[in-house]
Amino acid sequence: MKILGVLGSPRIGGNSDILLDQALAGARAAGAEVEKIVLCQKKISGCLDCGKCNKTGACAIKDDMIDIQKTILEADAVIHSVPVYFWAMTSQMKAYLDRWCAFFDGEWSMHKAYRPKMKGKKIGLITVCGDPNVSTADPIIHSFKTTAEFARLNWIGVVQATAASKGEVAKNEAVKKQAYELGRKAATP
Ligand SMILES: Cc1cc2nc3c(=O)[nH]c(=O)nc-3n(C[C@H](O)[C@H](O)[C@H](O)COP(=O)(O)O)c2cc1C
Repeated sequence: MKILGVLGSPRIGGNSDILLDQALAGARAAGAEVEKIVLCQKKISGCLDCGKCNKTGACAIKDDMIDIQKTILEADAVIHSVPVYFWAMTSQMKAYLDRWCAFFDGEWSMHKAYRPKMKGKKIGLITVCGDPNVSTADPIIHSFKTTAEFARLNWIGVVQATAASKGEVAKNEAVKKQAYELGRKAATP
């Protein structure tokens, strides 16, 4: 099993990063091979809606997302971890998610070549917000969960945390355990 972790926070060592590491530790403990991608260290432009991917599935923008798309296809599960920025996901995560466009054709069906690799792929989410009310992150969950349903992926769940200062979530054993369990679930057939 290959589990991919995708970090959408630009704050390395911050709350989303800590929880993603917990999830990947859970996956590793369940015997999986893990890989982490830190989006802010990659060059990922926003989708241009040029339509070139519609026919071939190949994105016209030649940046780091080309390799990331390959990594997504090879993974059995993808766990995303992202903080709330202005009641939404970070710009790094949104640029990445919009580039999933290349997986679909002009009728918004999965490209035939990708279908076997995407069908049933597990997808999970971790959100962090400064607000004590974790439901502040619900718009992000809606975005990922709906994308998962649309792409016929296997939604394995979400962990929602509250933390404001850098690394504050490290004190929250309960939510760290939830993230660990999400990783274990991702790696369990
Ligand atoms: C630009 C920016 C916008 C933010 N907007 C929100 C917000 O709308 N709601 C909220 O609850 N927290 C907001 N926060 C707080 C972060 O979600 C919070 O600090 C979180 O712990 C950051 O996670 P990280 O350490 O993984 O980067 C914002 C932080 C930044 C830098």
